[in-house]
Parts: sequence; C-alpha cells; structure tokens
Amino acid sequence: MIIFPQMASSSAYLLLLFSTFILLLPSHKQACFTSIFSFGDSLADTGNLVFLANNTHRVNYLPYGQTFFHHPTGRFSDGRLVIDFLAEAIGLPLVPPYLASGDSRNFEKGVNFAVAGATALHSDFFEKNKIYLDLNNFSLDVQVELFKQLLPSICSTTSECEEKLSSALFLMGEIGGNDYNHPFFQGRSFEEVVTFVPLVISAISRAITEVIDLGARTLLVPGNLPIGCNSAYLTLFHVSNNESYDQETGCINWLNEFSQYHNQLLINELQLLRKLHPHVTIIYADYFEALMPVFRSPEKHGFGSFPLRACCGDGGLYNYNFSCACGELGSTVCMEPSNYVTWDGVHLTEAGYKHIATGLLQGKFTNPPFTQTCTTETIVSLLDFNQYSS
Ligand SMILES: *[C@@H]1O[C@H](CO)[C@@H](O)[C@H](O)[C@H]1NC(C)=O
Ligand SMILES: *[C@@H]1O[C@H](CO)[C@@H](O)[C@H](O)[C@H]1NC(C)=O
Ligand SMILES: *[C@@H]1O[C@H](CO)[C@@H](O)[C@H](O)[C@H]1NC(C)=O
Ligand SMILES: *[C@@H]1O[C@H](CO)[C@@H](O)[C@H](O)[C@H]1NC(C)=O
Repeated sequence: MIIFPQMASSSAYLLLLFSTFILLLPSHKQACFTSIFSFGDSLADTGNLVFLANNTHRVNYLPYGQTFFHHPTGRFSDGRLVIDFLAEAIGLPLVPPYLASGDSRNFEKGVNFAVAGATALHSDFFEKNKIYLDLNNFSLDVQVELFKQLLPSICSTTSECEEKLSSALFLMGEIGGNDYNHPFFQGRSFEEVVTFVPLVISAISRAITEVIDLGARTLLVPGNLPIGCNSAYLTLFHVSNNESYDQETGCINWLNEFSQYHNQLLINELQLLRKLHPHVTIIYADYFEALMPVFRSPEKHGFGSFPLRACCGDGGLYNYNFSCACGELGSTVCMEPSNYVTWDGVHLTEAGYKHIATGLLQGKFTNPPFTQTCTTETIVSLLDFNQYSS
C-alpha cells in the first residue's frame, strides 16, 4: 500500500484508511507472493511423473488422491502435499505441473518442475557408480534448465521478469532424498552413500545460485525427512537386535543421523549463500524436526499410536512390502488415513504433510521464520494452528 503525503497529513483519515484496510483483509489481503516456482521430487510432484508415464503409473489410480481430491492427481499421497498447503495458505492456486496439458497449462501463478524419483545429482553420477534410476532425465539441474527455457513464455522484458521473479516464492525441494534412496534400496553401504552427501549439497547450492542469478529473491529450501522413521527403510533395515532403534520412537538411529548429517551440511551451505546474497531471503525448512514430535508422541498430535506403520500397503510390521506397493494388487488401504503419518510406506499422508506445512507456516520449523516473510495476517487461516501446540 502506498500512503501519499497528503493522506498522512490527516491522522483521522489515516485511521479510517487503516481500519478499512483491516476490515477488508480477508478478501482484499495483499498476497505475500504472486507465484510459486517449485523444484524437487515426489514429495513435491503435483503430477509430472504420471504424465511421463503416460498415466499408467500406479499413482494415477485410487487410492491415491482419495482423501482430498477424491481422484488421483499424480500426487504421491492420499491428498495434498506441503506445496499445496503453502499455496493455499498464501492465497495462490495449487501449482500446476510443468508437463500438464490443455487448460491446466496456465503458469501465470507458478509452475512445478518437481518429478517423482528425481535426484539432485545428474544421472551421469549414478551411471558412473552403477546405480540404477528408473527415471534419469529430471535431475535438479535439468529442472532448472527447463525453468530457464520456459521463462520467456512467462515474462517478456527484463524488467517484467525481474518483477515476476522477485515477487515469487521458490521452493527448492525437498530434493536429495532420492540420491540416497536409490543407492540404499539397491544395497549400497552407509560408508559409500554418506560420501554422496557433500556432492548433493553442492548440487542444491548450484541450483539455488542459478535461480538467484535469474532473479529469485525468496527461497524455501527443505531438508531431508527422518528416513529412519520411514516404513520402507524400517522394513529394509529391520534387525532383531534392538540397539539400532531409538527406544522412544522405534526409528532407526543411524538412518536418522544420516538425514541429520545431510541437513546440517545444507544448513551450513545456506548460511554461506545468505552471506553471498544478502538481498535474498533463503529460508531453511526443517522437515525433520517438524515431523519428529509426531513420532515421539503421535496421539498428542492427532495421529494413531503406531505412526511407523503405513496406511496403504501389503502387511508386515510396517505395512510395507517392496514387491507389493500401495495401489498394486494385494495392497489394502487403512480406514482412516488421517490417523497415519505414512501413506504408502515412502511418502506421507495428507495429514502428515499438513502437519509439516503447519509447522513451517507458524514459523517454528523455518529459519528465518516464514512469518517474517509472510505475516500470519496474510496467511489464510485454513490451518488449525491449535492442534499443533508442542
Ligand atoms: C509414453 O508414450 C510415448 C509416446 O507414445 C512413448 O515414447 C514412451 O516410451 C511412453 N512412456 C512410457 C513410460 O510408457
Ligand atoms: C525425459 O524422458 C521422457 C521419457 O523418455 C521424455 O518424454 C521427456 O521428454 C524427457 N525429458 C527431458 C527434459 O529430456
Ligand atoms: C529393546 O529391548 C528391551 C529389552 O528386551 C525392551 O525392554 C525394549 O522395549 C526394546 N525396545 C524396542 C524399541 O523394541
Ligand atoms: C510381499 O509381496 C509379495 C508379492 O505379493 C508376496 O509374495 C510376499 O509374501 C510379501 N511379503 C510379505 C512379507 O508379506
């Protein structure tokens, strides 16, 4: 809002103006951002992979999407993802996938390049290390390249692009999880995979630098989830000796330490980037700490008593079976997905994602707090903040 000097001369007028502004807030609120540009993997994919798979992927069938959309959308969940809750909260439409066609291909208010399975490191790295990727051409650098190619269709002049990008929110991730999932699920050792971490952080750093050079001014960069609490990891690395497990949560300690190592290097790198680009707001989103309280005391946060068990799966201790995934013949769905954190053993339920998004929006699990960039008055209060009081 611009206040002209002649207005300021009358404090009564200003007061009137101010109260009118407050009254109009719900419908005429100033959005914090004009668009969202997103890069990442299945935690943020709003439909790209199913387009690539010609709609034949299991995620393109129910029960995926059953909770919120009531039909599959290509999201790896029963409903909305963190990116959807963020878009809703700041008053923007859900971010369309880059590969959308027809009417959905309106990128005026943002576009999502995230693709399930995508890695931060380029496919050459995995090829060289003989690690198989089922989809090898949508790594983070490729996603940023696609963004660059698309840019001329989003804005035409330099100043228009500056305006557009400086008022956008850039979601850089979550990305990097698959750089570890693929090798771990292919039997690679901790000692080997841990050496990938600094390389992954460098790749994320390069992507951040590139979008900043293009004009990005606000970025939200999520860290890794606690993979030691993930049903697939718990199933794969199950041991009878219980010393590997955290007594309080039942999560696998060394895997969570792995996630925390990635997150610490990411936090350090972001600090470095903030010094290099003082005019840019780089927000770290702590997915790990946002989710851990749920595993420690699930009932207190509105979840069922065994949060390590997936809602949709084919039995076993964690309801996860590598040879029979959610949606495949033989898998079953729980009665009440909102009681579960994990949807299909790898990805979260809408309730799980909502819990993370709420934590981020409240500012608790974002650094600097998201509330500094986008005040709570401008965040649509669709989230039940009282539920998350830990
Ligand atoms: C999707 O269809 C295209 C064109 O028919 C084909 O080239 C491609 O291999 C298909 N992809 C998958 C994953 O089936
Ligand atoms: C990646 O591969 C898919 C399937 O082969 C293809 O449809 C798509 O155009 C490729 N994307 C890029 C960015 O090369
Ligand atoms: C580990 O074993 C001890 C002793 O048998 C038992 O009391 C404890 O509940 C077990 N913890 C977990 C996480 O299984
Ligand atoms: C996992 O699924 C496969 C294929 O349906 C089945 O043969 C196997 O028994 C299942 N494993 C467990 C532990 O349930």
